Amino acid sequence: MKDTVIKAFRDIYGKTDDIRAYFAPGRVNLIGEHTDYNGGHVFPCALSYGTYAAAAKRNDDKLRFYSVNFSESDVVETSIDEFWPLEDKGWTAYPKGVMWAFDKHGFEMDCGLDIIIGGDIPAGAGLSSSASLEVLTGVMLRDMFGFDVSNQQIALFGQEAENHYCGLNCGIMDQFASAMGKKDHAIFLDTADLSFKYVPFVLKDEVLIITNTNKKHSLKDSAYNDRRRECGEALEALQKVTGAEALCKLSPEEFEKQKHVIGDPVCLRRAKHAVYEDRRAVDGVKALEAGDLEEFGRLMNASHVSLRDDYEVSCRELDVLAETAWEIPGVLGSRMTGGGFGGCTVSIVKKEAADEFCRIIGETYRDKVGYDCTFYIVSPGGGPEVF
Ligand code: GLA
Repeated sequence: MKDTVIKAFRDIYGKTDDIRAYFAPGRVNLIGEHTDYNGGHVFPCALSYGTYAAAAKRNDDKLRFYSVNFSESDVVETSIDEFWPLEDKGWTAYPKGVMWAFDKHGFEMDCGLDIIIGGDIPAGAGLSSSASLEVLTGVMLRDMFGFDVSNQQIALFGQEAENHYCGLNCGIMDQFASAMGKKDHAIFLDTADLSFKYVPFVLKDEVLIITNTNKKHSLKDSAYNDRRRECGEALEALQKVTGAEALCKLSPEEFEKQKHVIGDPVCLRRAKHAVYEDRRAVDGVKALEAGDLEEFGRLMNASHVSLRDDYEVSCRELDVLAETAWEIPGVLGSRMTGGGFGGCTVSIVKKEAADEFCRIIGETYRDKVGYDCTFYIVSPGGGPEVF
């Protein structure tokens, strides 16, 4: 893909000098879902799949974008003075949103850029193609203009772009995982204060399999922002009796004692998920560190059940994948990953059972859903790169 974007740069913009190339990874979340905007823990890892850019400075204020993934579309032309938060449409809103966020923080571009983008993460699969594009843009701006920003700041600017330019009220997990990825490690992140540790994640007798429902989804058009609001309502009620700053600051025990103050039964279930999912993330990492992959797998399954029943962000396609996986010998755990409403599951499967896993799930999915799912065997990849 790196060579493809560089070649496209030459073909489309006709320039050959001073081209720089960049990469930022997508991510898969192992456990801790919908906790990152509730002050809780997440446990994602970067992937070796991601988004690439080739770029060069211009000697005017123009910005030109082209994506090899949407080759039927034209070059999008705009300028470094044209930013329309919440109104900009299409995929270029992500890189433009990051430029806008940099600008707001005093990092002003002093000329335009010609940019080619290309990614090998399936778009809309819940593997953070948009966060990787945001982090990629941040890494590119830092390199091109010499901005003094850390990878963590790039992640925060990416989230700011997503929240206030693109209109999705996401948490920090995806951008953080992409910006801070480390090969063969997952990131145990406390989203309340961004403290984190890298936990080695190298499977010996098992494989990590991502299964794509191929049901395209856009979190922006989903109930994602509603979930945030429902959690906010539950927190407001709980704060009257607990003073907790965020839902995930409550232990399950405290939550059980006080939950009666949440009037709305729907908000109560949302809060229950957040509180218990945070505990599962913490327990999951402990289990993993103790070498107990079976327990980690059980917690993954419990996470899916909670996302399906209490948080209601799963869908039939994801349920078919996870529920079928639970019945297959050699599957330690399987759950939906990411925002939900489509996208992928992540599963830990014994090596010798991997072929059966793909065969049984492939057939069952086609039978029940009517089209094919796709499998990717993955391992944790590194962070962004400048070539
Ligand atoms: C999306 C968001 C993240 C996070 C997950 C759910 O991926 O971008 O911030 O909330 O959903 O865990």
